[in-house]
Amino acid sequence: MNTVVIGAQWGDEGKGKIVDYLASSADVIVRYSGGANAGHTIVTGGKQYALHLVPSGILYPDKTVYLGMGMVIDPAALFTELAMLKENGIDWEGRVFISDRAHLVFPRYREIDKKRDSERKHPIGTTGRGIGTAYSMKSERDGIRIADLFWKEKTAELDEADRAFIAPYIERLEKMKVDITAEMYRLKGKKILLEGAQGALLDLDAGTYPYVSSGMSCASGAPVGAGMGPRDIDRVLGVFKAYSTRVGNGPMPTEFNTETQSELYHYVRETGREYGVTTGRPRRCGYLDLVALRYACRTNSISDLVLTHLDIYDELDGIEACVAYDIDGKIVTDFPADIGALNKAKPVLEQFKGWKTSLKNCRSYADLPEQARSYVEFIEDYCGTPVNIISVGYERSDTFMRLDPFTRGAEHGNGL
Ligand code: IMP
Repeated sequence: MNTVVIGAQWGDEGKGKIVDYLASSADVIVRYSGGANAGHTIVTGGKQYALHLVPSGILYPDKTVYLGMGMVIDPAALFTELAMLKENGIDWEGRVFISDRAHLVFPRYREIDKKRDSERKHPIGTTGRGIGTAYSMKSERDGIRIADLFWKEKTAELDEADRAFIAPYIERLEKMKVDITAEMYRLKGKKILLEGAQGALLDLDAGTYPYVSSGMSCASGAPVGAGMGPRDIDRVLGVFKAYSTRVGNGPMPTEFNTETQSELYHYVRETGREYGVTTGRPRRCGYLDLVALRYACRTNSISDLVLTHLDIYDELDGIEACVAYDIDGKIVTDFPADIGALNKAKPVLEQFKGWKTSLKNCRSYADLPEQARSYVEFIEDYCGTPVNIISVGYERSDTFMRLDPFTRGAEHGNGL
């Protein structure tokens, strides 16, 4: 049973927390795309961990994790993260493997990323981690993979600075590199959890192009990036927050108005701790965008939705969610590709009653107040997809499941 976890919005939905939560029942965890532009926060035992490259399952001492071939890996960032884990008593050695087909990120790529973005008429707001450059080098067939470090003719072509950078890492990378395609085949029949990065709307193909990241953050990227085939995926979990956030530039039709809604903007940002894990940038905040969420469900064949940050709305009298866009007087419910149209879109809002109570101690769906359940059930009906996991706080334990995606039979399909 292989389960993919993707972000169903613009990233930062709480995937790291959900992967960490599900990892206890998985045999291995594979991160399949992106690089150190991602930031996954996990809070457990009162400690907070910020992971950028290593899959979130690493915090369980008995789990093996893989960095897949769809990833682009900055060895400096990777070994800094591994050292941080060791300092926190997490013994990772012998449990972290890297696909030898994964591409490398060299320090100069970060500078190229930043320079290119600053020269754009409409900057994307890159995290500046060299990710876009690494993926474009890959598609230009000029990238360097982990395997290439052991191909003498290729390393001879590297310039002096790149060779000097990589030299201290080669031996360590050699011990960690694997043929992930063979590993995944060997693990057939086991429970594999595939962890995405960024979100469906930042996907290079299906996202709000050009305001996207450069890897495959869609569910289809999971088998590619993990070295499997599409028939190896059983379930796709789409993680979304009770509201929307976005970092960087690009359209966000449900963004709160910073002037007329500054109180709500401030409340959601501060209560939800909406600051980037990688860059510290404040995130843009807005209403839950159901038009975009349903688009994510359809383009990723999401079998189960996972709702996070529901508790952020605990204090509000009323809640609103966007059910359509008004674009020049036309009501639109399919997510447009046209950035000009998305920039003009005004959200058509549905009103919900607030629950005005803390959800912190809810440990099952039945524990949720009726108003919160109505919000959840509206989302399920709108998206035609069940919400099977709900998170009501930052700790691992503040999460409950309605149906376990690993044991829930695929025959249930979409719908409850
Ligand atoms: P890049 O991938 O760093 O070049 O960034 C491209 C766009 O994707 C920018 O708008 C970033 O803010 C956004 N982005 C990249 N990674 C993440 C992430 O993990 N969470 C949220 N946004 C991200």
